[in-house]
Amino acid sequence: MPSLLPRLPVIRRTAAITALIAALIAAGGFAAPLVAQQAADAVAPEAGTGTPSASAPGSGAASGGAGDVVMRPDVARALAAKAAGAPVAAREWMIAVANPAAAAAGADVLRAGGTAADAMIAAQAVLGLVEPQSSGLGGGAFLVWYDAASGAVTTLDGRETAPLAATPALFLDGSGAPLKFFDAVVGGLSVGTPGTPGLMQEAHARWGKSAWSRLFDPAITLAEQGFAVSPRLAGLIGADAERLARHPRTAAYFLPDGVPLAAGQRRDNPAYAQSLRALAARGAQAFYGGAIAQDIIDTVQNAPRAGRLAALDLAIYRVKERAPVCVPYRMYEVCGMGPPSSGALSVGQILGMLNSFDLAASGPQDAQSWRLIGDASRLAFADRGRYMADSDFVPMPVKGLVEAGYLAARAGLMGKDAQSGTRIETVEAGTPKWDHAQLWADDAAIELPSTTHISIVDGYGNALSMTSTIENAFGSRLMTAGGFLLNNEMTDFSFRSHRDGVPVANRVEPGKRPRSSMAPTIVMQGGKPVLVVGSPGGSRIIGYVAQVIVAWADWGMDVQSAIAMPHLVNRFGPYDVEAGTQAEVMIPALEAMGYEVKARDLNSGIHAIDLRGGMLRGGADPRREGVALGE
Ligand code: DON
Repeated sequence: MPSLLPRLPVIRRTAAITALIAALIAAGGFAAPLVAQQAADAVAPEAGTGTPSASAPGSGAASGGAGDVVMRPDVARALAAKAAGAPVAAREWMIAVANPAAAAAGADVLRAGGTAADAMIAAQAVLGLVEPQSSGLGGGAFLVWYDAASGAVTTLDGRETAPLAATPALFLDGSGAPLKFFDAVVGGLSVGTPGTPGLMQEAHARWGKSAWSRLFDPAITLAEQGFAVSPRLAGLIGADAERLARHPRTAAYFLPDGVPLAAGQRRDNPAYAQSLRALAARGAQAFYGGAIAQDIIDTVQNAPRAGRLAALDLAIYRVKERAPVCVPYRMYEVCGMGPPSSGALSVGQILGMLNSFDLAASGPQDAQSWRLIGDASRLAFADRGRYMADSDFVPMPVKGLVEAGYLAARAGLMGKDAQSGTRIETVEAGTPKWDHAQLWADDAAIELPSTTHISIVDGYGNALSMTSTIENAFGSRLMTAGGFLLNNEMTDFSFRSHRDGVPVANRVEPGKRPRSSMAPTIVMQGGKPVLVVGSPGGSRIIGYVAQVIVAWADWGMDVQSAIAMPHLVNRFGPYDVEAGTQAEVMIPALEAMGYEVKARDLNSGIHAIDLRGGMLRGGADPRREGVALGE
């Protein structure tokens, strides 16, 4: 690896952090995270809220809303490993997830012989309570499953779905102009039929071993007894108080007596416990019909900017099995979620283009590596904007987009010489092979931060990668009487239905699923899983996941270092460089190549498990509160 730059003039931090940077440079690690004390980003709804410290167990700072769970030896050890920047090692099973209480619930299921599907259900139920801003019963998710017995990779689509009464004009005002983003988000209009309860049940029916009814117990207990509000949750409530106050039930829960919940404050949610009891007793049908369904509909239809979700939408909701998208990268096969997610196609396109270059030779210190990654991303995002949407509604060149010849030709646009060059001046969507012609206009749907990622390997050798969301932080800001927030996933559609008279592929249509960027991924080698990975981050998910895979596959980083590594992400706009990290040293070189560069907080939440060498090594993103637990 080339030596690191001798000084870091652009990093403006405290003396202590400057000293830490110097120590890290001396240790030779660009991989070292420097994300502590990230300033809250007032614009991003799920902003950075700092890196929880393991040095003060039980203080609330480290608890991630887990209360006493940080006193458990396994959790305390895992938090200490994370604070030290080291992966957690295990042999039998592992779970890596965004909150210690959720990790503990999943770990207990795995320890008792449950499968990865069982553990996901227990963990997801807890996440809906302690990380309500990111995912829950009122949202949707995508799941990638590796089945040890059959060797098959299966992907399940539990994406939210547009109400049957929705039209392409859903987010246009009376004059045909698109609504402002947050005018569309807050209220009933943005709510799609939730998919997460259906996905939990489908995963259990296919791959569960534990009794379904017991999997909700940890979440029910925590909801009834109360949990300690995490620093991250408290920070986000404070930053979003004005929007949360607009709906009485949401306000009463997050701003009791008008005061935002504080870190460490105990919060119970008996209504959520009731919803979970119903789900435990009667399965997902308790959600998609009856009292819970009626409450969802009432909440949506009586909200400001009333939505059009109806009983029929919930009654006909189905989880869909989709064909996995697998793209070769180096000696691996990178498998993930196809349409309606753009995740696996875009990650696969980026990696497929990078296959033409030797990134191991250039390494992470060389700005040329970031030129190649940045331009591969720009090219992928150009195709994404043109072609990618729900393939049940929009014919898509799925195979053509990741065909090796097409990607090699696109890579050719970046120049033959990996060691020198400037950015591609003008990037446009390509023309992948297609068996029939189709003309779409480019879209520009906005995605802002929330969401969570769960990676699990169970004692049977199965692997699960699931990204779960309610879209924006706190979703539509509508809380049901059942104690969970409703998503705003409909705003992942393009607000504009047409551009210059040409339809946009990702326009709203009744019963359609909005395009996602979620990229739950399982990297395979020789038919076996070697890396389980994914992240939140809106459309930056694609860049985060691609970068982790490059860091792990090409730069030989362990899983925790690859996760913690400062981010550099290009989504076909400015080159985003993670503020306050060593990545900022790349700014002058990137600017000299012609990129517009923005240093900013980049709030990933990557959770990953490396399965190579007969061991499990887990990593949790230092930008969030989670841990990896294993045995
Ligand atoms: O499905 C999507 O791509 C988005 N709704 C995900 C949102 C997200 O990841 C926000 N993350 N911080």
